[in-house]
Amino acid sequence: MLHGFDIERGSSVPIYRQLDAALRRLILDGTLEPGQKLPSTRELALELCLSRITVKSVYEQLVAEGYAQARTGAGTFISEGLDFETFPKFRRPRSKANPPAIEISDRAMAIMSSKASVRHGKIAPFRPGVPALDKFPVNIWNKYLSDAMVCDARRNLSYGQVNGSTALRTSIAKHLTDARGMQADPDQIIITSGAQQAFVLIAFVLLNKGDTVWYENPGHIAGRDVMQIMGANVTPVPIDSEGMDLAYAAKVNPKPTLIFVTPSHQQPLGTTMSLVRRLALLNHAHQNDAWIIEDDYDSEFRYRGRPLPALSALDSERRVFYVGTFSKSMFAAIRLGYIVVPPGLVETFAKARNLLGQSSSAVAEQALSRFMDDGRFVEHIRKMRRIYRERRDILFDCLINDCPDVLEPQATDAGMHMLAWLKNGVDDQVAHHALLEAGIESLPLAVYCQKPLSRSGLVLGFSAAPENRIPKLVRRMAEALRVLPRPE
Ligand SMILES: Cc1ncc(COP(=O)(O)O)c(C=O)c1O
Repeated sequence: MLHGFDIERGSSVPIYRQLDAALRRLILDGTLEPGQKLPSTRELALELCLSRITVKSVYEQLVAEGYAQARTGAGTFISEGLDFETFPKFRRPRSKANPPAIEISDRAMAIMSSKASVRHGKIAPFRPGVPALDKFPVNIWNKYLSDAMVCDARRNLSYGQVNGSTALRTSIAKHLTDARGMQADPDQIIITSGAQQAFVLIAFVLLNKGDTVWYENPGHIAGRDVMQIMGANVTPVPIDSEGMDLAYAAKVNPKPTLIFVTPSHQQPLGTTMSLVRRLALLNHAHQNDAWIIEDDYDSEFRYRGRPLPALSALDSERRVFYVGTFSKSMFAAIRLGYIVVPPGLVETFAKARNLLGQSSSAVAEQALSRFMDDGRFVEHIRKMRRIYRERRDILFDCLINDCPDVLEPQATDAGMHMLAWLKNGVDDQVAHHALLEAGIESLPLAVYCQKPLSRSGLVLGFSAAPENRIPKLVRRMAEALRVLPRPE
């Protein structure tokens, strides 16, 4: 029956797997026909010099999966009905080199055209948005995590509350009052798996196909792609020195359903939205029944004066979804963020959160809540603010002194990255690739744009770049950029 089949005794594939695979192959290609009797376990074991137990366990597995049937006292038979004349496609597995043509949905096509990159693995210097992970107090955090595992194990090892633990929502509400001038009720907060899930939830709940979204151009890539994937008509709105250009947006597409802004620190240009523009934005949203997403991703890091209150703090008409994340203030692997949801929509959002991923980890939620209540969170932010300010200053000075012919850095009072305009028309995607070759990970301004800008630039993260390495890295950067061909 198993003509030509030999057990490979030195193979890393266990013997029972080899036999199992051989029998399946014979069943699928029709060599073993429906109703045909398999040799007894004793016969096959003798023929192949195997233990009977091995053969028996392979037969049992084939029976469990429906390939064979065991008849008491009679033996094991190939299942009736396994007629591969009827199911010819299952006979031979398709080779990897020749995959079937797949018809994908419109949504899948939109997903495939996303420019959002997966930022995983080794971190090269100047990658934007990365905190100083080596400065995070891992041992202290571990203690909070293990306490959450041990002390409340029975509760925390199960699913969490869909909207997040009451304790964490209360800690966040207090933090928002102290740091962002907001009066958030813990019951209005929904804990998410990072800000990105918040954007997905908001788009999922609020948007119908064809709805207009005003989106900053340049703007946060992954948020914009989510709106597009949900079928929205995303209008790219330019940024001027006061923030989103509302007059332009109102002229092009006056009735948005949703408006996405980063008022504290525009991503990626670094502009802070003026008070007048904030009021005009809230006013437009109120008069047109539009919702606003305030993405407050890195507002903890402000280097001059006190952090400005959130846009949400001015929102008397409750049109703003305030989105916060712990990816920048703590570390991205924590996968915790939140939305302050306008009243009347909290239950809908809790249900949507349940459908799109149930809850966050109750263990992480409890650890974070206690970390915040004990003042560790604020202490960490204060420490990082000092470090990031110094790194920002060093990077700015080095760019001014060592790269005046290729880059023009833009001073910034906040955040974890800095924009440097490329001089003499060098294309930012070309510059980005040249820097990658030199071991430096900037992001080209073009990837943040739905509509191209007239200037090209690089976004450089300074928060994770050690002070003593910045001068040498900047010199390397200048060398790599100087040899690039410039357009006529
Ligand atoms: C503008 C902006 N918003 C939000 C996020 C945070 O995403 P998450 O909280 O899902 O890590 C990022 C991350 O890079 C970002 O750049």
